[in-house]
Amino acid sequence: MGLKLLLAVVWLVSIQLTLSSAEPRSFSIDYKNNCFLKDGKPFQYVSGSIHYSRIPSYYWKDRLLKMYMTGLNAIQVYVPWNFHEPVRGVYGFQGDRDLEHFLSLANQTGLLVILRPGPYICAEWEMGGLPAWLLEKPNIHLRTADADYLEAVSSWFAVLLPRVSKWLYSRGGNIISVQVENEYGSYFACDYNYLRHLQTLFRSFLGEDTLLFTTDGNTDREMMCGTLEGLYATVDFGTDTNVSAAFARQRRFEPKGPLVNSEFYTGWLDHWGEAHASVDTMRVSRMLEEMLAMGANVNMYMFEGGTNFGYWNGADYDSRYRSVVTSYDYNAPLTEAGDPTDKLLAIREVISKFREIPEGPMPPATPKMEYGFVTLQRVGNVSGLLDVLTPQGPVQSHYPLTFEEIKHYYGFVLYRTKLPQSIPDGQPLISPRNGIHDRAYVSVNGVYQGLLERDTGLVMNVTGQEGDQLDVLVENMGRVNFGSKINDNKGIMGELILGSNVLTDWLIFPVDLDGAISRGWPHSGMHHWLPPHLGDGPALYETPDSLAGDEEMPDLLAGEGAGPTVYKGILPPNGIAWDTYIKLIGWTKGQVWVNGVNLGRFWPARGPQQTLYVPGPLLSTTRSNNITVLELEKAPTTTRLLFMDRPQLNATMGKS
Ligand SMILES: *[C@@H]1O[C@H](CO)[C@@H](O)[C@H](O)[C@H]1NC(C)=O
Ligand SMILES: *[C@@H]1O[C@H](CO)[C@@H](O)[C@H](O)[C@H]1NC(C)=O
Ligand SMILES: *[C@@H]1O[C@H](CO)[C@@H](O)[C@H](O)[C@H]1NC(C)=O
Ligand SMILES: *[C@@H]1O[C@H](CO)[C@@H](O)[C@H](O)[C@H]1NC(C)=O
Ligand SMILES: *[C@@H]1O[C@H](CO)[C@@H](O)[C@H](O)[C@H]1NC(C)=O
Ligand SMILES: *[C@@H]1O[C@H](CO)[C@@H](O)[C@H](O)[C@H]1NC(C)=O
Repeated sequence: MGLKLLLAVVWLVSIQLTLSSAEPRSFSIDYKNNCFLKDGKPFQYVSGSIHYSRIPSYYWKDRLLKMYMTGLNAIQVYVPWNFHEPVRGVYGFQGDRDLEHFLSLANQTGLLVILRPGPYICAEWEMGGLPAWLLEKPNIHLRTADADYLEAVSSWFAVLLPRVSKWLYSRGGNIISVQVENEYGSYFACDYNYLRHLQTLFRSFLGEDTLLFTTDGNTDREMMCGTLEGLYATVDFGTDTNVSAAFARQRRFEPKGPLVNSEFYTGWLDHWGEAHASVDTMRVSRMLEEMLAMGANVNMYMFEGGTNFGYWNGADYDSRYRSVVTSYDYNAPLTEAGDPTDKLLAIREVISKFREIPEGPMPPATPKMEYGFVTLQRVGNVSGLLDVLTPQGPVQSHYPLTFEEIKHYYGFVLYRTKLPQSIPDGQPLISPRNGIHDRAYVSVNGVYQGLLERDTGLVMNVTGQEGDQLDVLVENMGRVNFGSKINDNKGIMGELILGSNVLTDWLIFPVDLDGAISRGWPHSGMHHWLPPHLGDGPALYETPDSLAGDEEMPDLLAGEGAGPTVYKGILPPNGIAWDTYIKLIGWTKGQVWVNGVNLGRFWPARGPQQTLYVPGPLLSTTRSNNITVLELEKAPTTTRLLFMDRPQLNATMGKS
């Protein structure tokens, strides 16, 4: 008996030893042979960026499979902190925020993961992923060793990193490496104590054996401030850069080890009011081939861009504030709707020269549907709907408070006061020091008078009588995500001046359209409205070309019927729930919800984006689909939307 047991134990131990030496599950750097080592063997990754926060969770698997079928062996993934901790101490990891489900799907698909948990991520995402509540501390030094900032980061990482650590490659998961911060060298602060603090945090949660790295833009200054001993230094660059010169720069900071381009730009982003960006397919595929032939590791940014749903777009601030559009199509190999493009096929062709492409067909584009026109009805103006939109009532303050001060971080806030004197001939309403962040829609007694806009519209004329109600609806168009101006508070900064009077005694209404809509408003509890019709006239659907002469451009003059107004309509169920695109012909600027989901901003008057992506699974095949539109400036005379079967992301702009 005793001997048998002993033999059994010896046998089990020897099995264990054989298993562990056969499957070491390790990922490391071979400094001698200038490559990565996976399970002790040389490894080169061909990776693509995909942001789960920009794709509905029901499509994650589809997108990952298409990436796998292109021949990628890894994906690169940002974790947006503000997506998971929108309010301090309140965490969300369910549904579209279920990071572990996403990691699991990638693992099942056969994709390794390069994780980029920030805390700052840029990504053209609201505030570069930092939560707006950090700004409640005035003058907080973001992305530095500021004690309050570090405390918030530490609390967040204590929640995030234990979840992630289970997915490390060495522990049976698929995460092969983890990026610390993001292009930190591009930030003015250059604070090594901050990087060291992050390094310690990552090490304490992820262990000593996890491969940590940094990514920086391709200049010496950026490499200087963004790198740290113990974190492997990588670079990022696009098709306009000389590959050998770029990798020579990486070599100055990492004389040995694998060459890595962590962000090879397959496309580029769009800003409202600017030309649509694209990157030539030939240049992408040629340069990819050049890098892979050198044995370099490449991550393509983006492989699948997706959508800035809701209020999640970021903004740049160089000479002026420039807001990023809703679509994050990025001219990437997979479109915003996850459809393969010629760019994807060209990339797959290149990859096939270096590694085996999985057998089997590339999954096709998802089907698209032209549902035609839906007519909308006016629900009311925002000023008249505050009972519903701000059920808790306003905050009172002598001077205006910021969005952050009233803890209403995204969307809209309405500031209300009274005209201190009669101004029948009009007086200038001025935001001194450029303090409207980012746009303000101004009405007197519910009648729209015009708007103020950050950097470009700092004064407008207002008329009215003493005691009239002045309403200023301020829109947050996305916090700055890059550069030195990321402390981007929203609302009215400082004060508003009318003529020579500083306006005081404000009622400040946090406008919660999303909350009201999620409770069923404005479709529920309305008994006397006519069902809108699908289609106008004989043709259910007209091509964009045939509509060209028919487009009603809004009359942008202020007045009757203009200003922030809510509309609603119904897309009747027709048994099919396919992807579609909403075109807002003649509408000016605003926001659209379908069945309670905020699809993002529209601004066809500025362009270049003309259509909003509607993921098919949002639609019901059996129940009326509820559409809500907030138009901020002026709706067309015929208030209808067109559901088309293709996107329009590149229309000439400058009409407003
Ligand atoms: C990841 O996938 C591999 C291979 O399919 C599987 O053996 C492993 O258990 C998965 N890991 C996790 C954490 O699910
Ligand atoms: C790229 O830079 C290298 C030197 O770093 C130079 O020899 C080469 O000619 C450059 N290539 C191009 C296309 O400019
Ligand atoms: C966008 O449209 C303009 C005008 O039609 C055209 O010149 C430009 O090449 C287009 N850009 C892209 C990226 O398709
Ligand atoms: C805005 O709505 C309020 C309340 O319904 C109404 O009294 C007011 O006339 C409306 N203003 C305009 C310009 O329609
Ligand atoms: C305001 O009114 C004055 C006088 O009517 C006019 O000269 C000025 O251009 C107006 N300003 C704006 C911003 O409309
Ligand atoms: C549309 O709204 C009505 C009223 O709130 C609700 O009964 C219905 O379920 C909604 N439709 C969908 C598809 O959610």
